[in-house]
Amino acid sequence: MQIAIDGPAGSGKSTIAKIVANRLGFIYCDTGAMYRTATVMALRLGLKLDDEAAIMAHLKPLAITFKPTPEGQQVFMDGEEVTLAIREPETTNNVSQVAALPAVRAEMVQRQRDIAATHDIVMDGRDIGTTVLPDAEVKIFMVASVKARAQRRHEENVAKGIMTSVATLEQEIATRDHKDATRAVSPLQKAPDAIEIDSTNMTIAQEVDEILQLVATKIQ
Ligand code: DC
Repeated sequence: MQIAIDGPAGSGKSTIAKIVANRLGFIYCDTGAMYRTATVMALRLGLKLDDEAAIMAHLKPLAITFKPTPEGQQVFMDGEEVTLAIREPETTNNVSQVAALPAVRAEMVQRQRDIAATHDIVMDGRDIGTTVLPDAEVKIFMVASVKARAQRRHEENVAKGIMTSVATLEQEIATRDHKDATRAVSPLQKAPDAIEIDSTNMTIAQEVDEILQLVATKIQ
């Protein structure tokens, strides 16, 4: 079974997706982490972020892998752990540009489909229900106010020792939303058959329950 969870930055997708995957015994794939890893690679190599050919030459052979641990999912780039590096503000502020490159998206979409082909999966991102897994049995589109999302990202960052103000995060989130929603290739869009969940005033448990109930209706 495939469960696609899309939505803007900080809508709570990844928290919910991880819990839902755990409860169902499915694997979890964080597609944002894949774009972030490509961005870390490009920044480290000093590549121009609009140089699609150079980025692709290095991305093609790059292994991006995940390892679930009790503390959360670890992310590896050619075997090196980059779990923290992919959340640094420098990465966050540049990832939209890398994620807008059509060849990068084509490569990531192929990798994501390959992962989904062999596992029951919960996959979160921006284009999962529309592009990556258009036949997913369950499609969720999660939204929340910019304020609520900035607050959540702030709390996540504090837990990871990254200091950024809520006001800065609000601005960054609004800018990133705009870029993600207006880019030419695979903009953030709700699939026509996705169920929208507004998590602004919901608890995590309520969101998880709502999704598990939807899943149950598909299994019967
Ligand atoms: O969900 P996130 O903040 O980790 O996503 C990082 C960036 O990657 C964000 O700017 C949107 C982009 N992204 C994308 O374009 N398509 C996806 N499926 C997932 C993320």
